[in-house]
Amino acid sequence: MALLRVEGLKTYFKTMSGYVKAVDGVSFEVEGGKATGLAGESGCGKTTVALSILRILPFNGEIRDGKIMFKGRDLLKLDEDEVREEIRWKEISIVFQGAMNALNPVYTVADQMVEAIMVHEPDVTRKEALERCAKLMELVGIDPSRINNYPHEFSGGMRQRAMIAMALACNPSILIADEPSTALDVIVAAQVLKLLKELKMKLNLGMILITHDLSIIAELCEKTAIMYAGKIVEYGDVVAIFKEPLHPYTQGLISAFPNITGKRQKLVSIPGAPPDLLAPPPGCRFHPRCNYAKGKCKIEEPAFIEISKGHYVACHKVESEFYGKKW
Ligand SMILES: Nc1ncnc2c1ncn2[C@@H]1O[C@H](COP(=O)(O)OP(=O)(O)OP(=O)(O)O)[C@@H](O)[C@H]1O
Ligand SMILES: [Mg+2]
Repeated sequence: MALLRVEGLKTYFKTMSGYVKAVDGVSFEVEGGKATGLAGESGCGKTTVALSILRILPFNGEIRDGKIMFKGRDLLKLDEDEVREEIRWKEISIVFQGAMNALNPVYTVADQMVEAIMVHEPDVTRKEALERCAKLMELVGIDPSRINNYPHEFSGGMRQRAMIAMALACNPSILIADEPSTALDVIVAAQVLKLLKELKMKLNLGMILITHDLSIIAELCEKTAIMYAGKIVEYGDVVAIFKEPLHPYTQGLISAFPNITGKRQKLVSIPGAPPDLLAPPPGCRFHPRCNYAKGKCKIEEPAFIEISKGHYVACHKVESEFYGKKW
């Protein structure tokens, strides 16, 4: 059974010009010891999904609808005290997008980690927190003798490892990693991703891996959701989706990425730009950029249908071909 199940989540931001429909009916699952990827272009709502799960949206964010089922409880029904005392950091934690630059330069890494532990677990003494801190550093591959360094004495990769350690400080069952390797050079990025993969197995962590880079999804995740303009257009097993992407947007994303093992091929980009989420296009949100779009796509929103076991797609073309009709 899934550890976390997000069902029909809708999160909007109130702005002077109206509501930004950042997340508009998103559903996916996370299992223990496995990673679910959230992939899609910048601005499609990935971070907003993460912030909604942890209930740490900016002041103008509103969760309008949906359920977030975790260990039998709907997190959206808990009050703030319950989320703070029982869920956030202890059960579900996050390595924020750009987190490695969030360490405070005037405190040592140990000080910051100890404080994070003591805020979430007030019964823990400073000595115990320091011991835990050293163990966590070891877990993420940093020599524990470095805990008394200041952030500027750490390399980028070490700072990112320290942020991962901090997120694991209270032994959560789910870790959300939002673009965990984006700001790192390729070698260090590969090491951080390898670490996340090892931690997932070693700690039986459920993981939500947010990225715009499909190669990271292929490397780390068992399942993935492909997001476009606040919605999931395709969801399922990573192997199935990479082998046979069905949604024209997923196909476009995959052909826009180089394949280092296959034969040389021309990279194709998806024309146009993602829509403005203040007034997303009617029907299928992808229709203005889709080569296959017909009249129906402009008016009717496609249903999310299960094409094969666990592989879901929201596309009129795929649906009609599935029922044996010509598109
Ligand atoms: N506080 C806010 N107020 C208004 N709009 C917001 C706010 N935060 C985010 N948005 C908008 O919500 C949409 C989704 O943003 P989000 O940060 O979730 O995207 P993302 O997929 O994480 O993008 P990226 O890959 O660039 O990190 C975007 O259109 C963004 O401009
Ligand atoms: Mg983001």
